[in-house]
Amino acid sequence: MTVILRLAMIGFGNVGQEFARLLDRKREWLLKSKGLDVEVLVISTRSKGSLMSKRRLDTARAVEELRKGSLRGYGSEYTELSPIELIGKCDADMMIELTTLDIESGQPATDHIKKAMNMGMDVVTANKGPVAFHYDDLARLARSNGVKFRFEGTVMDGTPIFNLVEKTLQGCEVTGIQGILNSTSNFVLTEMASGKTMDEAISKAQGMGLAEADPAMDLDGWDAAAKITALANVLMGAGSDPKKVERNGIRGLSADDVRASANERTKWKLLASAERDGGSIRTFVGPETITPDSPFWSVDGTSSAVTLKTDLMGDLTIIESGPMLTQTAYAIFSDMLLVVDSIRAGTLQ
Ligand SMILES: NC(=O)c1ccc[n+]([C@@H]2O[C@H](COP(=O)([O-])OP(=O)(O)OC[C@H]3O[C@@H](n4cnc5c(N)ncnc54)[C@H](OP(=O)(O)O)[C@@H]3O)[C@@H](O)[C@H]2O)c1
Repeated sequence: MTVILRLAMIGFGNVGQEFARLLDRKREWLLKSKGLDVEVLVISTRSKGSLMSKRRLDTARAVEELRKGSLRGYGSEYTELSPIELIGKCDADMMIELTTLDIESGQPATDHIKKAMNMGMDVVTANKGPVAFHYDDLARLARSNGVKFRFEGTVMDGTPIFNLVEKTLQGCEVTGIQGILNSTSNFVLTEMASGKTMDEAISKAQGMGLAEADPAMDLDGWDAAAKITALANVLMGAGSDPKKVERNGIRGLSADDVRASANERTKWKLLASAERDGGSIRTFVGPETITPDSPFWSVDGTSSAVTLKTDLMGDLTIIESGPMLTQTAYAIFSDMLLVVDSIRAGTLQ
């Protein structure tokens, strides 16, 4: 039997549009293998208007209209309702939250998620703000409303970390976490090790679309702080937020420091860590040198990696090489299917 799954997409930028293309590409597979017909009923943007319909929207046409600058040309489905109003009025079963990250508070994404959960919708997001700032509240709200909340794309794109621990490492306790979680700072350090100044490396990263015009969030360790908080909150019950992370970025490193370490067979990396400290969890981000025996030795350029320290499985290191947008879109896709599978199995998560 085919089941129709209706989505509200709040935020329809790079990741949202790539996810919509992935849905089109996998439409036949979804029907044949999962008995699932996925319809997008809502598309919401901040500055280019929104669409709401009772029937399937043509996402490829929406992308075309966005290229022209506004969704207005799409037709009578056009609306200027806010995301909260759209979530309140639409007929969707699941909300996909893909608005811009706010590193200060995790808003307005957290409010979008709360509204959707209170409307009885399952939620999937790649926005790390809500998980870094409000994970405990959101997990509680999901449970009390009997809905699912998944967020694999928030850390290392589609690389399975949260889902790996939850689904494959059942009963295994995560006792510590360490990772290279910010690809821009890793790219800058790799370029500096090969002789560039920090400014030259940053310009190259900006030219490749890797770094923002203001790269502070990456270079000052904020992005890594948000990601280690998300990991520590979910996997270690830290109940923390990014402002509590002891944080140092890479700006204090000179080109000479980085070149000298290369001559000594060491490498500077921006490491993000979480470890038990008495009854609480200590989270910290800062530049450290590693040696060739480190599992992170080969993690250069835009790659990322995380080591999970566990009580039963020792240390597990997962490396993501050269991430692309497809990986993040896939995180949304696989989370969507996990939600559907758990609803069908009648399980809580
Ligand atoms: N890009 C990646 O590779 C990647 C990887 C992992 C996680 N993520 C996360 O995924 C999320 C989406 O990333 P992206 O690259 O797709 O961002 P993006 O291209 O900047 O798109 C963001 C979308 O959200 C809309 N939006 C922003 N604020 C909004 C608001 N207050 N209300 C309604 N809509 C709003 C934007 O509308 P306007 O265009 O009108 O502003 C746009 O449609 C972010 O949280 C990001 O941190 C991205």
